[in-house]
Formats: sequence, C-alpha cells, structure tokens
Amino acid sequence: MNDVVLEYSAAGLGEDDLDGFFLGWREPPSPARRVQILHSAHLVVLARAHDRRVVGFITAITDGTFSAYIPLLEVAPDWRGRGIGTRLVRAMLERPEGCYIVDLVCDDDLVPFYEKASYRSSDCAGCRETTIGIRCAITLP
Ligand SMILES: CC(C)(COP(=O)(O)OP(=O)(O)OC[C@H]1O[C@@H](n2cnc3c(N)ncnc32)[C@H](O)[C@@H]1OP(=O)(O)O)[C@@H](O)C(=O)NCCC(=O)NCCS
Repeated sequence: MNDVVLEYSAAGLGEDDLDGFFLGWREPPSPARRVQILHSAHLVVLARAHDRRVVGFITAITDGTFSAYIPLLEVAPDWRGRGIGTRLVRAMLERPEGCYIVDLVCDDDLVPFYEKASYRSSDCAGCRETTIGIRCAITLP
C-alpha cells in the first residue's frame, strides 16, 4: 500500500491511463470520454503506483463550498483489497475544500465498504431503492 501515492489532479491524464477501468459497465465510456469525465470533474483523486500507473480514482461534483456528490470510484482489479479504495474515499472527504455533505449512491453489497470509510447507509433515495434496489449512503454528521 505504501508504494501507492495519491494525486489531487487529473492534469496530464491520457487515454492509456484509464485502460482497464469501467469494468462490467453495460455501456462503458470510450477511452476519450473517460479522460473527459475525469478532467471535467470538479474534484478528482488519483492513486498511482510507483511506476506512475493509475491504479484507482475517485471523482466528485460540487458547489465548491458545502455539498458534493461522488459519482465514480474505481480501483484496478489487481490492486483491490489493499486499502486503496478506502484511502481514495477518505482523501476526498478530507480535502481542504472539504464539504459538509458528500453524498453517493451505491449498490447494497457495497454498503459495508462505505461504512468502513465512515459512511452510513440511508433510505433517503427511496424511489431508487424501491425500483432497482439502490441505497443512498450519507456522511455522518
Ligand atoms: C469498491 C472498490 C472501490 C473497493 O476498493 P478496494 O481498494 O478493494 O477497497 P479496500 O481495500 O479499501 O477495502 C476496504 C474494506 O472494504 C471491503 N470491501 C471492498 N470491496 C467490497 C465490496 N465490493 N463489497 C463488500 N466489501 C468490500 C474490503 O474487504 C475491506 O474490508 P476489510 O478492511 O475488512 O479487509 C473496488 O472493489 C472497485 O473498484 N469495485 C468496482 C467499482 C465499484 O464498485 N465502485 C464503487 C461504485 S459506488
């Protein structure tokens, strides 16, 4: 885990850097779109291995002062289970411009992961939960 560093910018990120991400998506974004997504996010944290390979990322959309939403978090499959996902979530929550509200939506099976990263689950996205089984996780006050 110590050989992975976190970077708070997507500057210089290229299409090759995001090979191997967006796995399992029904309609994964094109390589060019992936880069665009990370460059367009208001906040981004990258996890890079010692050889500079991107092994994980998290993005947020925010008003820049009070509230934010995390649409994307992913760790490369061969780097999972080493605490990188947790580090990325915490890094986003602890940014200097950190917001009071940092919401996200996840599948039920990921609730334990986010709870370990200081979230608690909530039924506040009730319409999603009743139709497609998704919960909303919200930060502890
Ligand atoms: C979810 C994800 C980011 C976790 O990254 P990671 O680096 O493997 O997570 P960590 O190593 O920090 O795991 C922390 C803890 O959460 C648990 N955990 C990780 N993924 C989990 C999952 N899918 N379901 C349940 N628990 C999980 C780990 O077992 C670990 O528990 P431990 O501390 O008792 O050992 C990664 O599995 C991933 O990229 N998944 C595909 C994309 C995705 O689902 N993103 C989230 C969208 S909301």
